[in-house]
Amino acid sequence: MKVVTILGARPQFIKAATLSRVFRKYPDISEVIIHTGQHYDKNMSDVFFEEMDIPHPNYFLKVMSKYHGEMTGKMLEGIERILLDEKPNVVLVYGDTNSTLAGALAASKLHIPIAHVEAGLRSFNRRMPEEINRILTDHVSEWLFSPTQLAINNLTKEGVDSLKIHQVGDVMYDAVLHYQRSHGEPKIIQTLGLDNKDFILVTIHRAENTNDLSQLEQILNQLNEIGKEKVVVFPMHPRTKNIISSQDLIANITVIDPIGYFDMLHLQKKCKLIVTDSGGVQKEAFFNNKYCITVREETEWVELVDAGFNFLAKPTTIVPLVKKLFGKPFNAGGFQPYGEGDAAEKIVNILKLRF
Ligand code: UD1
Ligand code: UDP
Repeated sequence: MKVVTILGARPQFIKAATLSRVFRKYPDISEVIIHTGQHYDKNMSDVFFEEMDIPHPNYFLKVMSKYHGEMTGKMLEGIERILLDEKPNVVLVYGDTNSTLAGALAASKLHIPIAHVEAGLRSFNRRMPEEINRILTDHVSEWLFSPTQLAINNLTKEGVDSLKIHQVGDVMYDAVLHYQRSHGEPKIIQTLGLDNKDFILVTIHRAENTNDLSQLEQILNQLNEIGKEKVVVFPMHPRTKNIISSQDLIANITVIDPIGYFDMLHLQKKCKLIVTDSGGVQKEAFFNNKYCITVREETEWVELVDAGFNFLAKPTTIVPLVKKLFGKPFNAGGFQPYGEGDAAEKIVNILKLRF
């Protein structure tokens, strides 16, 4: 079986690491990796390949565009050319970024079957670029690997053939379990002077929170307010950093550059509370037994909200939610909607049935 994996954005490196590790166990599977170049800074890309032992990409497209159409178009053109040469049996795409959609479009036009990891997630907000990317990708995919029962329900309601849908669990849960076991304790706590300090971990990067300046300003005001009493650590995505510096907004908290996955997992383990708009971090908060405040109007990971571990917030409700949740004991009570940590194994076994 020859698989072409398409990736390009930070969360996709983390997801793909889990599958690549399983592929390498089988001599009859070859994986060719195309990196679209959507994310390109060392600490947004290279660091994950090094830390997580992901094979060096066979192709690097260097698409670093600003606009969605141009970005997706350039990726589509580059990926198509490579697929024509490589002639894989399967094209594997992850999540919901522009790289996901470009990979799915390129493969579907060439009639190469697509496997979509993280299928069926919906925010029901079509103004989000990610919602369009995931709906379109799901509907041209041959294998839809869903992390949760709710994701399966969404696909069923949209009329997707049930034979194509597989509930496998979440590869991000696989990653947390595997990498927490397999590496030593990072030094980030000492480096940031956080020994014995209670702190709140923050990540904000979504378009809906950064493109709208008044929204971003309100979020920063709330974080600055919290920062007067508590330590707030914010590894800042370059998108957010660029906007803050170009608009002279002020973040009076501990802002650091984006960090590697091991450092991030360690901060999640050691913090008191998480405030984020990231999809992945919402679940990692839960995996690390932390309450999460999600600065969005809706989330795809509804089960954590329903279970009372994740709280949706408007910018203005961050402070009251922090007051309510900081220091509150966390008990998952055996709740685990994201599988058994073997999603990647299950995916590879299902693909192997065909080839
Ligand atoms: C993308 C995904 C989003 C995902 C996020 C993960 C889409 C539509 N969005 O959003 O779903 O949550 O990745 O992090 O695909 N930049 C750099 N260096 C980098 C990467 C980005 O400076 O290495 C800056 C550039 O100014 C770029 C901006 O960040 O224009 C936004 O990057 P882009 O990939 O367009 O979107 P993300 O916000 O990262
Ligand atoms: N992450 C990281 N370093 C950081 C911020 C995030 O390693 O500085 C990891 C995080 O632990 C999670 C993934 O990146 O595994 C989430 O990616 P991101 O928030 O960029 O995208 P999303 O999940 O929202 O699509």
